[in-house]
Amino acid sequence: MKNFQFILFLLLFTVAFTACNKDLEFKNRYYDEADYEILNRHLKLPELPYNYNIDYPDYINSFVNTNIDYNKATLGRVLFYDKSLSSDKSVSCATCHKQELAFSDNVAFSPGAEGKVTTRNSIALGSVINFRLYYGNEVFNGIPFFWDNSANTIQEQSRRTLANPNEMNMHMSQVHSRVNSIEYYKPLIKKAYGKESLSQDQILDAIAEFTNSITNYNTKFDRSVDEHFKVARNTNVREITMANFTAEENTGKNLYLDNCASCHGTMAGRPGRTEGNNGLYTTYSDRGMGANDGGAPRFKVPTLRNVLLTGPYMHDGSLKTIDDVLEHYSTRVKNTAGLSPELMVSNQAKKMNFSESDKAALKAFFATMTDDVVTADPKFGDPFIK
Ligand code: HEC
Ligand code: HEC
Repeated sequence: MKNFQFILFLLLFTVAFTACNKDLEFKNRYYDEADYEILNRHLKLPELPYNYNIDYPDYINSFVNTNIDYNKATLGRVLFYDKSLSSDKSVSCATCHKQELAFSDNVAFSPGAEGKVTTRNSIALGSVINFRLYYGNEVFNGIPFFWDNSANTIQEQSRRTLANPNEMNMHMSQVHSRVNSIEYYKPLIKKAYGKESLSQDQILDAIAEFTNSITNYNTKFDRSVDEHFKVARNTNVREITMANFTAEENTGKNLYLDNCASCHGTMAGRPGRTEGNNGLYTTYSDRGMGANDGGAPRFKVPTLRNVLLTGPYMHDGSLKTIDDVLEHYSTRVKNTAGLSPELMVSNQAKKMNFSESDKAALKAFFATMTDDVVTADPKFGDPFIK
């Protein structure tokens, strides 16, 4: 009898203990149980949020804070992919900024809300070493946004993109009321901001946190620069034969440095000039910065990381392929008011006259700047259950 009681006690104890343990397990899960139910109805999120911190290679001596708040970035990722942020719920940021295309798209003009189309080519967000390092933050100013460099902060960029009638066609107050009324945002807002609803600025802040985490440094080019840096403590790509590069890639690198880097940047990082005119047209219908200040037509000098993924090219998507781009610089640069001096000789449009093997080498070099991580990592991907 005593034995039986003891066994019963043991049994009860075990049951109680297991129940306790179960409870603990629940408490250790990231979101509240009820919140998981809500989230799982709409979204495919990992058990624990992804780590969005940026781990630069040694040679990138970053003075910019590389910590990304993973709760805000998670919220920002959902906002980035949410079609509820456009007036007719037909497009999200990702419609025109597709992960697999380095956050650009493959059409000259992109489909926006209400059947409209954009008036300029979508810009690749995954074409810079790191979004925040390149574009700056509240403290330091980097490169401005848009083809006419007309937005200075990422918040201003997002606000204008959301409001643009050809893009998302939403006033911030509409975005605000939609986001705060959708059930799956509640748990994410609670984690990111410790409250029930977001202000307009916090919505932009969360989108910014996500876009700021976008990087491009997992490339053959960067690995090679880093290898050199670890030994020689410098990054002078002009003087080195890149380790692990084929002869053709090294030739392409030198052609790039001689013909393109003065504008597009030696490391395809910060450009040599932030705006320019590359002689696309004799007469421009879209004048870019010129339309804002009455000067000659000028446009942002874009960065060329992941460039093989981001066609069609130029502010109007008028050059379909990278071959068209190389042909442009080779023989088709027009004499036009405001043509940048880097593309002139004796006051005339310069012809680079690339041979077929030069073009192949340039393309081989560009392929070393393709980042297969940013284009595939699920932390940058669509979180919605289709
Ligand atoms: C309908 C297509 C479309 C949608 C939707 C869209 N974009 Fe864009 N995006 C563009 C186009 C086109 C440009 C270039 C506009 C210009 O320069 O005038 C651009 C430019 C940008 C830039 C500037 C990059 C640079 O280098 O200057 C950023 C950043 C950006 N978009 C982020 C976003 C975010 C975040 C969202 C969602 C809130 C979004 N976009 C939604 C088409 C779109
Ligand atoms: C005067 C400085 C300058 C030089 C030199 C220059 N570019 Fe450009 N590049 C620009 C400007 C400005 C634009 C944007 C023009 C526009 O959209 O109207 C541009 C756009 C591009 C684009 C389009 C990118 C995109 O995302 O749409 C590519 C690709 C490109 N250049 C490649 C090259 C290559 C390759 C070379 C060297 C052979 C080169 N560029 C030399 C200024 C320059």
